Amino acid sequence: PAKINIAIDGYSSCGKSTLAKQLAKKLHYIYVDTGAMYRSVALFALDNGFFESDFDKEKLINSLNQITIRFERNENGLQTILNGENVEESIRSMRVSERVSEVAAIPEVRKKLVSQQQEMGKEKGVVMDGRDIGTVVFPDAELKIFMTASPSVRAQRRYDELKANGKEASMEEVKKNLEHRDYIDTHRSSDPLKQADDALVLDNTDLTPDEQLQKALDWSRERM
Ligand code: C5P
Repeated sequence: PAKINIAIDGYSSCGKSTLAKQLAKKLHYIYVDTGAMYRSVALFALDNGFFESDFDKEKLINSLNQITIRFERNENGLQTILNGENVEESIRSMRVSERVSEVAAIPEVRKKLVSQQQEMGKEKGVVMDGRDIGTVVFPDAELKIFMTASPSVRAQRRYDELKANGKEASMEEVKKNLEHRDYIDTHRSSDPLKQADDALVLDNTDLTPDEQLQKALDWSRERM
């Protein structure tokens, strides 16, 4: 079978990364978590004090060439490395979640990360999840999946995930953060989240992870 690229987009906490990881494993493809890249830039901005008073966008834009992001595999799975440091844990905190969508709305940030993502998909055989993969990063992807799930299911999943990782957050905070990010992600002028015309919709509100994987695998194999 021919190698293809698989683009997975959707709102926050729809289970995109769960599906993308499982698909990549089954197909022996490379998984790329683009949210982790935007989160890394947000962490860099926070750690360098760019959020201390008003968000200093210019400072961040001028520092973009000091930011290097790569992925590394270890016994805990795929790890995100920001300027040589493993940030896989810290980029998942609420502190980063609260700021990441502002950072991701900056065109210069998107330009840098999108070109790195396109480079990673050049040889095909990539499963990439995010918000603009089927529309901007790989408009020619052989398979585009747009994931949805009901808001309450999404909030519950994110809450359980934070809990399982020992992170503090109330259900109310989690809900607010999801709504906030969805709003910014769909309303920004630079590459907003929207369903590609040729994307297949996968609503997993009532699907088990196995059922969802089976569906996506069938779609993938039809396109190889
Ligand atoms: O996927 P995740 O929830 O980790 O993404 C964090 C944030 O990064 C999103 O809310 C969005 O603002 C931004 N993002 C983006 N484009 C992508 C992936 C993520 O704007 N391709």
